[in-house]
Amino acid sequence: MGKTIIISNRLPLQINITEKDIEVTPSVGGLATGLKSFHKEGDSIWIGWTGMPEEEIPDDLKGKVLEEAKKQNCLPVDLTSEEIEGFYYGFSNRTIWPLFHYFMEYSEFEPEDWESYKRVNQKYAEAVLENLNDDDEVWVHDYQLLLLPKMIRDKKPNVTIGFFNHIPFPSSEVFRTLPWREEILEGMLGADLIGFHTYDYERHFLRSVKLILRKDSTFNEIHLGNRIVRVDSFPMGIDYQKFSDASLNQQNQPSSENSNFQKKLDYHKNSTSDAKLIISIDRLDYTKGIANRIRAYGYFLEKYPEYKEKVRLVMLAVPSRTNVPQYQLLKKEVDELVGRINGRFATVNWTPIWYFFRSMPFENLIDLYSSSDVALITPTRDGMNLVAKEYIATRTDQTGVLILSEMAGAAHELNEALIINPNNFEQIVDAIKTALEMPKEEQIRRNKMLQKRLKRYTVEKWAKDFMNSLREAKNRISKIKAE
Ligand code: ADP
Ligand code: G6P
Repeated sequence: MGKTIIISNRLPLQINITEKDIEVTPSVGGLATGLKSFHKEGDSIWIGWTGMPEEEIPDDLKGKVLEEAKKQNCLPVDLTSEEIEGFYYGFSNRTIWPLFHYFMEYSEFEPEDWESYKRVNQKYAEAVLENLNDDDEVWVHDYQLLLLPKMIRDKKPNVTIGFFNHIPFPSSEVFRTLPWREEILEGMLGADLIGFHTYDYERHFLRSVKLILRKDSTFNEIHLGNRIVRVDSFPMGIDYQKFSDASLNQQNQPSSENSNFQKKLDYHKNSTSDAKLIISIDRLDYTKGIANRIRAYGYFLEKYPEYKEKVRLVMLAVPSRTNVPQYQLLKKEVDELVGRINGRFATVNWTPIWYFFRSMPFENLIDLYSSSDVALITPTRDGMNLVAKEYIATRTDQTGVLILSEMAGAAHELNEALIINPNNFEQIVDAIKTALEMPKEEQIRRNKMLQKRLKRYTVEKWAKDFMNSLREAKNRISKIKAE
């Protein structure tokens, strides 16, 4: 067996150009953080974009970018500003992303963006084909590359190709509104195995294939001439040990060595007696329900004034897709809401919300997870939501309460969390109160079960399961062909 070629739009590393040099930082987002652990362990190369427009990388630094990428077994695909506009901001994030997350009114159907999407998928296909041996396995990831499996299959009919969709696959009634729905489904069906996080996404996909391409499936298999495509669900896990070890290490550090951020969190505890900490962490994305979360927190302070000075919401939002108008509007809305709530409820000793709009190093993320009493995660739609899982993994003393939206893929596995409907303010307000008042024994009882599950189904196991199913699917096809 050859190597595994992983392909995703974004590499796990982000390149930034500083004055005369380059700076390499880890990419944020579930796909990159999750898959990185699998990539590190095995014999794989990862093909994707560095996050910089090609024209902005000075010629004398191009070699260095390549070198830095190679250190992590990555091969960069260069995207021009024009491609980034049409393919990335355009079709990927102004058409597919909103549509697949049920924000139909945000979805734009621009033929030029579609053309760019096709061209850039072709560019990725060429990068794969240049590096592909017949015995290699190809693993394509996510909604930016839905056409790639077919493009590779057309050139290499016998190669093993897996595809995993990290975001929801919407109901066929939503999907069918897409003008290029046939091409998208055919593109995905170039794979031997198509994976989703949940059974519902898988069902929606099969229904779309039936409705739009008129192809039936039997026991999750679609027969296409001399090929069979298998469809299945694989809920992505996390590198549990990494999060729980990091949390333990940081707790055992002498306080003088603690980060400034941790000191600020300690200050929270000291300055406001008995104050509890609620955290929320996400990319600043309209699918994450951030605005409703802040509103619900405001309603909570209104309904339960005894909690003034006794609770604080620490909200970490990472800038994301800042060229898309909806993200700019959301930024404004969040700034205003935070200002409004802080203005209305703050006292001389207390600010109800601490809001950070930036990416943070891993250690700060761990500080936040492990210092908090409650995690408030309220997406209106989310393929999986790894933050919910990371939060549970860092709770080494098994205390802490997770409030989680039923619209996140993760809610299917994390039943012991307080599950809420993100559009129901009253329910969120009550869940916040329940979480803040939950007896320690109950917190521990719930987290014990959650941790047991997350420890068992790690990201490593997820990747192994996917790759084993891919091989099985391929072997079965070869057998059928031989018969
Ligand atoms: P999505 O993939 O939609 O961004 P997930 O919750 O699945 O949502 O994944 C987000 C990932 O990004 C997590 O692994 C989390 O640790 C990481 N992350 C989120 N916020 C930050 C931040 N401010 N700084 C660094 N990493 C972050
Ligand atoms: C989600 C998507 C990923 C994407 C990530 C960050 O996790 O599933 O494909 O990489 O968000 O978004 P970005 O647009 O910055 O790559």
